[in-house]
Amino acid sequence: MTTQHSLPGAVTELHRRQQDLGMSWADGHLGAFRYIWLRDNCPCSDCRHSNGQRILDTASIPRDISPKSIALAEDGGVDIVWAYDSHASRFSAGWLRGHSYSDKERENQRRQPRLWNAEGLRSLPEGSYTMVSTSSASLRAWLTMVSDYGIAILRGVPCVSGRLTDVVELFGYVRETNFGRYFDVRTMVDPNDIAYTSLALSAHTDNPYRDPVPTLQLLHCLSSDDIGGDTTVVDGFCVAEALRVGEPGKFQLLTTVPVRFHYQDKDCYLEAESTLIQLSPQGQVVGVKFNNASGDPFCLDYDLMEPFYDAYQTFASMLESPEFQVRFKLDPGDLYIVDNTRVLHGRTKFSSGGKRHLQGCYADRDALLSRLRVLSIGEVIPS
Ligand SMILES: [Fe+2]
Repeated sequence: MTTQHSLPGAVTELHRRQQDLGMSWADGHLGAFRYIWLRDNCPCSDCRHSNGQRILDTASIPRDISPKSIALAEDGGVDIVWAYDSHASRFSAGWLRGHSYSDKERENQRRQPRLWNAEGLRSLPEGSYTMVSTSSASLRAWLTMVSDYGIAILRGVPCVSGRLTDVVELFGYVRETNFGRYFDVRTMVDPNDIAYTSLALSAHTDNPYRDPVPTLQLLHCLSSDDIGGDTTVVDGFCVAEALRVGEPGKFQLLTTVPVRFHYQDKDCYLEAESTLIQLSPQGQVVGVKFNNASGDPFCLDYDLMEPFYDAYQTFASMLESPEFQVRFKLDPGDLYIVDNTRVLHGRTKFSSGGKRHLQGCYADRDALLSRLRVLSIGEVIPS
């Protein structure tokens, strides 16, 4: 059965079949939706609460459900009356399009990360603390940078101890850990982490030994008059994609062979296991975890040890390569935030005995993305 409609953006034709309802859109897009799925996602107030939660019991839907009638709605959507209980469902054309079964179509509608290498990120994304903390438009712009690039700088953050947690509270919540709500990064006698020395730190993600890993890290420079101590950052997604293209066998090993990380001091013992590159079920790179200092001995089969070291060393050297790595100097009042599942950070060594003093803390990306979505639909910052 075929019905026709001609509103712009609307579903223009319906094709009723045994197992599904086929639909055509004005731009030529075709979709097919299973009847059980359509019934399950009926948006009416009997089936969905106004808070968005499902009321309908999915398990109660007959597996052989079919429509009694179908029609194009006046607004370009689709009306269905179901045969088994005469329940009426109306779906908007936009909702149906946004929930297409096609991975490609869904991907087109999702914001994709903007991958960068050294050439592509000549100037770092940055905002001003004064603006970001007083204007919702500036906050939205800054959070968009974090979402797109996995890194952003904030200039002019007052050099006051703990002020970086105020930055987190602009979009979310501090993730407190055994290191406290925030922690000082400066040279220490007898440090429990080489971050608290003047040694260089190779590109790494923080805390790979936690489960779950903190997904955001902030570092705020309170003072620095040292020689050296430059910050380095690298887009792990970009490097992983280059590895996928150039060395597919090594990419395959790093996405399938798990390794363990641990952290230990007198009060805690943390450990977690993960692949170094994580993929979505569709094969997209969705996470990178790399921290040479916190890695446990690889527990692999004899035959796998050599190729795994080969893959590990290739990935490590790409992460340190000037082709991918960006280096910059943090001045007092500068803060940077990184997506700790994507962008690796490090530093060059610096002269010990200097005044380099940073404070760091963790937060989570889900809250940041939530804030960004809310700001994007026009909400203002609460005072
Ligand atoms: Fe770190």
